[in-house]
Amino acid sequence: MNGLISASVNALKGEISVPGDKSISHRALMIGGVAVGPTTIRGLLLGDDVLRTARALKEMGVKIDRVTDDLWRVYGLGVGGLKEPDRVLDLGNSGTGARLLMGLVATHPINVQLTGDESLRTRPMDRISTPLSQMGAQVIARDGDKMPLTVIGARLPTPIEYTLPVPSAQIKSAVLFAGLNAPGQTSIIETRPSRDHTELMLQHFGATLKITDEAMDRRIITLTGQPELEGREVVVPGDPSSAAFPLVSALLTRESEIIINNVGLNPLRIGLFTTLREMGAKIEIINARQQAGEPVADLVVFSSQLRGVTVPAERAPSMIDEYPILAVAAATAIGQTRMQGLAELRVKESNRLSAIADGLIACGVDIEIDRDDLIINGSPNSIPGGALIESRMDHRIAMSFLVLGMNSKEPIEIDDARHIGTSFPNFTGLMNKLGAKITEPCQK
Ligand code: S3P
Repeated sequence: MNGLISASVNALKGEISVPGDKSISHRALMIGGVAVGPTTIRGLLLGDDVLRTARALKEMGVKIDRVTDDLWRVYGLGVGGLKEPDRVLDLGNSGTGARLLMGLVATHPINVQLTGDESLRTRPMDRISTPLSQMGAQVIARDGDKMPLTVIGARLPTPIEYTLPVPSAQIKSAVLFAGLNAPGQTSIIETRPSRDHTELMLQHFGATLKITDEAMDRRIITLTGQPELEGREVVVPGDPSSAAFPLVSALLTRESEIIINNVGLNPLRIGLFTTLREMGAKIEIINARQQAGEPVADLVVFSSQLRGVTVPAERAPSMIDEYPILAVAAATAIGQTRMQGLAELRVKESNRLSAIADGLIACGVDIEIDRDDLIINGSPNSIPGGALIESRMDHRIAMSFLVLGMNSKEPIEIDDARHIGTSFPNFTGLMNKLGAKITEPCQK
C-alpha cells in the first residue's frame, strides 16, 4: 500500500523540528567532497535525494562516514580530485543532485554517466549542458537534453561569464562548481537573485568569491578558480520548504498553535512567509540567530483566517518550491489569490502547475490558469475534498494535498506517498504528533 489519506482535524498543538535543508545538505556533501581535510556535517537531511548524492560522491572516490544519523564526516579529495566512477550514478528523483554534480564533474578529466527515476528522466538538462559545454565539457544526452546522459569532462577547462537565462540556483551552482576546477575567473550574472547557499558555503570553505549588486536587477558573482578549499564544520538548518507544510496546516486549522524549531530563514528562501503574512498569517519569529553563515530562528504559528493576495512574479525565486502549499492556503482564504509568473513550475519534479490545478479542481476548488498565472478563488471552511490525487512522483504535491485533506469536508487521498521520503522522511509521524489524521487508506 503506497497511498495515504488525510482527514479533517480540530486543532494542531505541539513543538517540532523539521529535517535538514535539502539544498544545503547537497552542497555540504559536494563541497566537502572537493575540500582538503575532513568536513563535519550536523543535521544533514536523511532524505533519499541527499543519500543518493552521498552515494554518487563515494563512487567517485570520496570517503564519507555516517558516524551517527546526526553526524557525518566527508574526507574530500581536493579541487579536481574526483575519480571516474565505474558505474552509472543514479540520482533518483533529485534535480539538484543531478544538476549540481554535472557541474562539479564537468571540469574533471573524467567521463561520468548519470541517470535518475522516471520523473528526473523527463526534466530538461540543456539548461546545464549549455554553459558546461562553453567551459569545454561535452554532454551527450538522450533526446538532446534528457537523462540518462554522459558528461565528458573538459580536459582543458575554460572559465566563462554566464548570464542566467532563468532565475535558477541549480544553473548558477552547476556553473560555479564547474568554475572550481577552471583556471581564472568564472562569473554568473543574475537578473533575479536565486538562493545563495552555494555562494555562502563556498566562502565558508575558503573560496574567493566577489559578489556585486550592480543594480536591482543585476548581481554578478565571480569565483576565482582552483582554490584550496579546506574542510569545515557545517550545521544544516531545518528546511523552510519542509517547515511550510506544518506551518500552513496550523494556519488553516482552528485553534492551533505550534512551534517549529530551527528553521533556516535565508532571505532568498522566505517568499512564502512574506506572502502568508500579507494574507494575514500570524507567525512569530523567535530566537533568531546565525548558524554557519545562515540565519535560523524558531517559528510560532497560530491559526489565522487568510485573505487572497497577488503574488508578484519577482518573488517566485524566493518561494519556487512553495507554490503547491501556498495554493492550498489560497484555496481556504477569503477572496482571490493570483500567483504570477509560474512558468518554471512546469519543469519541477512534476509539471506542478497542472498537478496543482488538476488536484484542486478534483477537490472542488475554483481555479483558473491564465498563461503562467494561477488564480484561486478561495472558499473558507467549505472545500468538498473527497478526491484521490495523483502525486505524480512529486513529494511536494503529495504533502500539499494531505494538508488540504486536513481542511476539507471529506478526506483527501494521495495515490503514492513514497516520494515524500526524498525531502521529508518523517512527515506523517510529525504531522500526526501535532494532531493530524494521516493514515494508510485501509485504516480509514
Ligand atoms: C534548488 C533550486 C531550485 C529548487 C530546488 C532546489 C537548489 O531549483 O526548485 O528544489 O538547491 O539549488 P531551480 O534552480 O531549478 O529553480
